[in-house]
Amino acid sequence: MLDIDTLGEFARHRRLRRSEGLRRLVAETRLSPSDFVYPLFVTHGSNIREPIASMPGQFRVSVDQAGREADDLRALGIPAVLLFGLPESKDEAGSGAYADDGVVQRAVRAFKRADPRLVVVTDVCMCEYTSHGHCGVVVDGEVDNDRSLELLADTALSHAQAGADIVAPSDMMDGRVAAIRGTLDDAGFASLPIMAYSAKYASAFYGPFREAADSAPQFGDRRGYQMDPPNVREALLEIEDDIAEGADIVMVKPALAYLDVIARARQAVDVPLAAYNVSGEYAMVKAAGERGWIDEQRVMMETLTAIRRAGASIIITYHAKEAARLLRDEAPR
Ligand code: PBG
Repeated sequence: MLDIDTLGEFARHRRLRRSEGLRRLVAETRLSPSDFVYPLFVTHGSNIREPIASMPGQFRVSVDQAGREADDLRALGIPAVLLFGLPESKDEAGSGAYADDGVVQRAVRAFKRADPRLVVVTDVCMCEYTSHGHCGVVVDGEVDNDRSLELLADTALSHAQAGADIVAPSDMMDGRVAAIRGTLDDAGFASLPIMAYSAKYASAFYGPFREAADSAPQFGDRRGYQMDPPNVREALLEIEDDIAEGADIVMVKPALAYLDVIARARQAVDVPLAAYNVSGEYAMVKAAGERGWIDEQRVMMETLTAIRRAGASIIITYHAKEAARLLRDEAPR
């Protein structure tokens, strides 16, 4: 028989794990609906709520659904929505991205009308609007950085004019934050914040999104502009440059395979840090949950907690509504 008295001193870490109350009291990381941004796909047409097959629980909605969506978010305490647009038609120049009556511009007005206090964030990119599906202007088979900047800035300006509260460039062109900041300032929008997708990796985790947003590149891939997954020091350079160019919030994307990048970014800079829990991350949880292979709700909360623990203060997630509902309903004592 083991004689405990001969073991010497050891710590009783389990003391503080004995009840739900104790565990809550000593939790180092907390989740709140205020941390969440809800991404939403807005499509042309009316009265549309079309389920997205690879993202169970998510829908493409038409502009007229803004009131219902805004009500949901307000009731759940989610402060912000991130809008993506599915235009009626696409062209080489992605002109739907910066049209005054474009789908996102109309959605911004509808959301602000429905709830002026909702923070309306817009994704600034060309890929949903260009016939080739790339995030900028294609010249000789390559995405031309400098020629893309003006269109991206025009897009951000059109979102600002529609009433957006934050613009969020996701294209990964160099200098886009400076271009957007300059254009906004010149047009009287000096107070409008920019949330930059600063460390956005060329990731296979965007698969379901590209189906949902119909934004897959028609030739090649995005590796010539989005970041290469092996790199983390480069992510810090991207983040520093975006801040120098005028970004108010920086982002790491995707989240789960890049928790180390989030943690390093948190140590390196003091601006608010967002992480995007992307479509593929969401789809995997849903798929395994549907099969009964995992406890979906627990995996969801564990995942979101991990993103916060790594250092993100803002989590962009398709789970936002479901997680907020759980946080509201669970008050264990
Ligand atoms: C547009 C954009 C993408 C995502 C956000 N903005 C797709 C891409 O870069 O291909 C992905 C979001 C997700 O997967 O949930 N450039």
